[in-house]
Amino acid sequence: MSANRVEELQHRHAAAEQGGGRERTDRQHREGKLSARERMELLLDEGTFEELDKLVRHRCHNFGMQKSVIDGDGFVTGYGLIHGREVFVFAQDFTVFGGSLSEANAQKIVKLMDLALKTGAPILGLNDSGGARIQEGVVSLAGYADIFLRNTLASGVVPQISAIMGPCAGGAVYSPALTDFVFMVDQTSHMFVTGPDVIKTVTHEDVSKEELGGAMTHNSTSGVAHFLAADDPSCLRSIRELMTFLPQNNLDGVSRVPTKDPENRADPELDTLIPEESNQPYDIKDVISRVVDDRYFFEIAEHFARNIVIGFGRLGGETVGIVANQPAHLAGCLDINSSTKGARFVRFCDAFQIPILTFEDVPGFLPGTAQEFGGIIRHGAKLLYAYAEATVPKITVITRKAYGGAYCVMGSKHLRTDINFAYPTAEIAVMGPEGAVNVLHRRELQHDSNPDESRRKRIEEYRDRFANPFVAAERGYVDDVIEPRETRPKVIHALQMLANKTDTMPRKKHGNIPL
Ligand code: HXC
Repeated sequence: MSANRVEELQHRHAAAEQGGGRERTDRQHREGKLSARERMELLLDEGTFEELDKLVRHRCHNFGMQKSVIDGDGFVTGYGLIHGREVFVFAQDFTVFGGSLSEANAQKIVKLMDLALKTGAPILGLNDSGGARIQEGVVSLAGYADIFLRNTLASGVVPQISAIMGPCAGGAVYSPALTDFVFMVDQTSHMFVTGPDVIKTVTHEDVSKEELGGAMTHNSTSGVAHFLAADDPSCLRSIRELMTFLPQNNLDGVSRVPTKDPENRADPELDTLIPEESNQPYDIKDVISRVVDDRYFFEIAEHFARNIVIGFGRLGGETVGIVANQPAHLAGCLDINSSTKGARFVRFCDAFQIPILTFEDVPGFLPGTAQEFGGIIRHGAKLLYAYAEATVPKITVITRKAYGGAYCVMGSKHLRTDINFAYPTAEIAVMGPEGAVNVLHRRELQHDSNPDESRRKRIEEYRDRFANPFVAAERGYVDDVIEPRETRPKVIHALQMLANKTDTMPRKKHGNIPL
């Protein structure tokens, strides 16, 4: 090999690694952000990154761009390992033309995504970009559309994770939005379709960048993001953690993580965790953590729609997706946001063969004009649809309330849930005792000489007759009424029994979920 060629190669590699130069990298650091290559190092197992297309250059001649050419064109792309498993990763380098997307670097991402699809490995994107490269015009937009297409084709085939670690604006937001999990870094990341200046011009609203599209806004208000990280290193650590719960692809299954936590561990504390009074709140996460391996629950979207809790845990070493009503927030009612949050997670688990464990304590759908006008009918239907179409092993534990339509929705037997348990504290009925007595006995109570006493009696009668798990158990809608302490062994045994479950959907191109 000619010495000149080797020298040229070394020179070009070194230039690519410097990105936009020391000054711009220093600025990145001053703003609390790592460089694209530093992020890649923290994300992947040490020394496993294989870079692709390091020598790719943009082909733009507009606005004197031919004079500024940087090898790699500002995107670092390649493959490497996370916990010993292959992943494909791209990181946008803000120091090179603001991490903007060009025709050339879009092709780098497309190549990566095609490889990931062919080999069945997850795709991870670290976003830090000013959006479409303005100097390139429509070819940059075409690059985005090429990526959106692949995000869609890869959906449900390989897990896709996005981390927003700087700006992500305009149509560029739609690539992360199509992926399964979105991380955002507090204070340094922002996402919006139109920024504060455009908003000011069009709607005369004054809103700061942080308020409009900061990490907390998207984690708590819009639900666009699922994880809030304090800084770049903790964001990358959390992605590595999430990866331990995910399979490589939709055919692979998640690796077992051995545990010393005994499968038959009973937890007597669970017997007293649910309050006697059915309107007293409690934290469903206390129940979840007492059931899962090593009390470790990896929560997703913890700041959004807190009336439903979703996340991963392990039982007997196997990953399960957990969906639970949260009585400590809005009494665990289902509303628009909790329905869509739950539905998307149920569909993720179903697509990737992860069993679904549901803890149910739901007084019903949240009443109010805001909910009705906002379309709770169609949004609630999403959760119902997601549960009904899921063919993975499904287990439901009714801890307390299972009322009305919400009973049907939350993994009821009727939506082909495999095993349904109920605690003795369960109340399964069309509605709560107070509401039912008002409907059934209103006229009679109006003419009663002692209406309060009569109402109390009627409520008692109703509770004895309907607000218990036994009517449902007598019909087989509940397979067993269990003591809460037994939850872990019972659920683990059920999961083992279901390990070889197969179930199908009728032949169709795809369903028409009420979006
Ligand atoms: C080319 C860009 C760029 C872009 C930034 N730069 N955005 N170059 N195309 N889209 C360059 C800047 O010229 C500058 O170059 C360097 O990146 C850093 O930018 P600064 O403005 O100095 O950084 P900062 O102050 O941190 O502001 C970051 C920013 C701002 C908020 C992202 O740069 C900005 O508003 N950029 C434009 C955003 C935008 O409107 N993009 C198009 C969105 S629409 P030098 O050489 O000075 O370092 C879109 C459509 C996608 O993306 C369509 C998909 C369907």
